[in-house]
Amino acid sequence: MEFNHTIFEKAKEFIIICYHELNLIDLIETRLDEIYKEIKVSGSYHHTFEELEYGAKMAWRNSNRCIGRLFWNSLTVFDQREANSEKEIFNALSSHLKFATNNGKIRPTITIFRQDLDEVNRIHIWNHQLVRYAGYETEFGVLGDPASIQLTKKCEELGWKGKGTPFDILPVIIEIDSNGPKLFEHSLENVLEVELEHPDYTWFKELQLKWYAVPFISDMVLSIGGIKYSAAPFNGWYMGTEIGARNLADVNRYNLLPRVAERLGLNLQSNSSLWKDRALVELNLAVLHSYKLSGVSIVDHHTAAQQFAHFENNEKNAGRKLTGDWSWLIPPISPATTHIFYNNYDNTRVNPNFYHKKTSPF
Ligand code: ARG
Repeated sequence: MEFNHTIFEKAKEFIIICYHELNLIDLIETRLDEIYKEIKVSGSYHHTFEELEYGAKMAWRNSNRCIGRLFWNSLTVFDQREANSEKEIFNALSSHLKFATNNGKIRPTITIFRQDLDEVNRIHIWNHQLVRYAGYETEFGVLGDPASIQLTKKCEELGWKGKGTPFDILPVIIEIDSNGPKLFEHSLENVLEVELEHPDYTWFKELQLKWYAVPFISDMVLSIGGIKYSAAPFNGWYMGTEIGARNLADVNRYNLLPRVAERLGLNLQSNSSLWKDRALVELNLAVLHSYKLSGVSIVDHHTAAQQFAHFENNEKNAGRKLTGDWSWLIPPISPATTHIFYNNYDNTRVNPNFYHKKTSPF
């Protein structure tokens, strides 16, 4: 077998940074020898638990689009590289849900399954998020979340049938190598949801809106030192605007601004009545209020921006270059009230990192 120099160079770059940050400088040489030999014999190498754990934390720290990176070092890492059947994988996902949800006191967590062998031989979770609502095309328009239409169809093809409410929780589809997809339904006790109410308007409850407590991103590839983990679902807690200004408000999602504005008695015929803006503020207030009331962790965008300023400062003090994606870091409401709006960020991608399947560098 020809020696894979690319993977060794990537490993080397990672190990040097990782071991420096962990104060294990004396071990670098021996570890690189070991990795060299493993690559020579097998074409690839395996991370130690410590490398995996710190690599995942670094990947979060390097996530240019994430405003919540102050907490990168508090990530809990579950090593599930031994899980070898769809059932074992699903059980690990269920444990992740339970641990991370923690009755509302959300813990940022990642579960890492075995590394990819190649493009085909890898674990593939089909869902964008482990918990998300189904979307159905009906003759009266879309019912539920339009972002889920494709996946909902796949689930139905595999024999699943939803209740037909706007908030049906989708099952998880897991595929190992090219063995075909297997479908699993969550136990509902593992999925925490928050019903939305408004601190001042009692009618808000009548809209019968809710959202799930925890966003578990499950379709990104974790890349550490030349190794790819296609199945490495992770979660943080929500920033309120993700739900109130996007999921429930976007025209191509739940599109609720007109309904909220109507109940507020605003003039929907005139752009300059600012009905969209006023509906957005009340909807976002309801989200933050309801999560707090239910004891579910959430952060408003002003606090998140302040936390991001801390992160920027910490990175500077650690002598690291900050990277970021301005268009994602600014919040979708009142962006100019945050310092982020007035800054420039370098959008270079640093490894370890999370990639979308299409933009993965391998
Ligand atoms: N924006 C996505 C959603 O609304 C979640 C992305 C990850 N968000 C987070 N706070 N970690 O579901």
